[in-house]
Amino acid sequence: MLKTKKTILITGATGFIGSNLSRRLLENKDNYLICVDNNSSGNISNLKDVLDNPRVEFIEHDIVKPFKINEKIDEIYNLACPASPVFYQGQNAIQTTKTCVYGAINMLEIARDNNAKILQSSTSEVYGNPLEHPQNEKYFGNVNSCGVRACYDEGKRCAESLFFDYNRIYNTKVKVVRIFNTYGPFMDKNDGRVVSNFICQALSGSDITVYGDGSQTRSFCYIDDLVEGLIKAMQSDDNIKGPINLGNPDEYTIKDFAEIIIKKINPNLKIIYKTLPLDDPIKRKPDITLARDVLCWEPKVSLFEGLDRTIEYFAN
Ligand SMILES: NC(=O)c1ccc[n+]([C@@H]2O[C@H](COP(=O)([O-])OP(=O)(O)OC[C@H]3O[C@@H](n4cnc5c(N)ncnc54)[C@H](O)[C@@H]3O)[C@@H](O)[C@H]2O)c1
Repeated sequence: MLKTKKTILITGATGFIGSNLSRRLLENKDNYLICVDNNSSGNISNLKDVLDNPRVEFIEHDIVKPFKINEKIDEIYNLACPASPVFYQGQNAIQTTKTCVYGAINMLEIARDNNAKILQSSTSEVYGNPLEHPQNEKYFGNVNSCGVRACYDEGKRCAESLFFDYNRIYNTKVKVVRIFNTYGPFMDKNDGRVVSNFICQALSGSDITVYGDGSQTRSFCYIDDLVEGLIKAMQSDDNIKGPINLGNPDEYTIKDFAEIIIKKINPNLKIIYKTLPLDDPIKRKPDITLARDVLCWEPKVSLFEGLDRTIEYFAN
């Protein structure tokens, strides 16, 4: 292992956010990265250019199982968990809960052993189908604990509670961020998320599928902005533990969003409406006042610019 100033463990490193974060962290020559993933929803090809770097090592591992590491770890980004319903629901539901809960415990134990800082990638899904709009961190959420999304929503809620208990009981240095819809290069085109779905449908000349009447809203954060927010959160003072929302507060209805994609890629396409899945949130928009105040962070990339970069990625 190369000697560097900082050793950073990233779980979920071959996924969408993990691979972008790894690439960004490597720009700093003081960083050595230990990338961990079981490649269940991620793909090792997302790290193709990163793995050649002598400051990176990759370990294939399921974080549900305990994990021993010999190097001294300074920081942990715990990103491992499928983020798309296609991967987290159905036959994978129990594994999703285990990844959220056992995975969090296993990573928190490494943080505790190493006196390392650890960041949890929580989610706007902890707000469920929110009854408050926009959602700020004080809102406790409205989650159906018996529904098909609960493996993810409740798994992430339990992980948050573990993070704060490790902090209270063992003084572990924790950071919990709640990520809202993020998009950009290295998303999996088959994982059913709205941005990749719409772009790939449009690029292949298919009409765009909207679930429900399209009046449900989402806000979309470009990946480079999110990665900057994660790093700022990790570098914040130890007394800043979160939870902190990270997302872009610009809100669009899904119908308007589909129309933007159609206009950008192929104005001849139409929108086709299908039944809304169970427990699909009606509104989603982060209140990012806290992130602005304590991290001096806010998104900089506009939807139009971010979409151009993402469309170019998928077109290639
Ligand atoms: N992308 C978003 O919009 C979004 C929104 C909210 C929260 N998040 C959170 O951010 C994190 C990363 O999301 P993403 O969009 O990159 O998803 P992703 O599916 O692309 O990446 C997740 C990665 O975790 C790996 N993984 C899953 N279970 C694992 C396990 N048991 N052991 C080891 N590795 C495992 C997968 O193989 C994959 O590489 C997730 O924790 C997700 O909940 C993402």
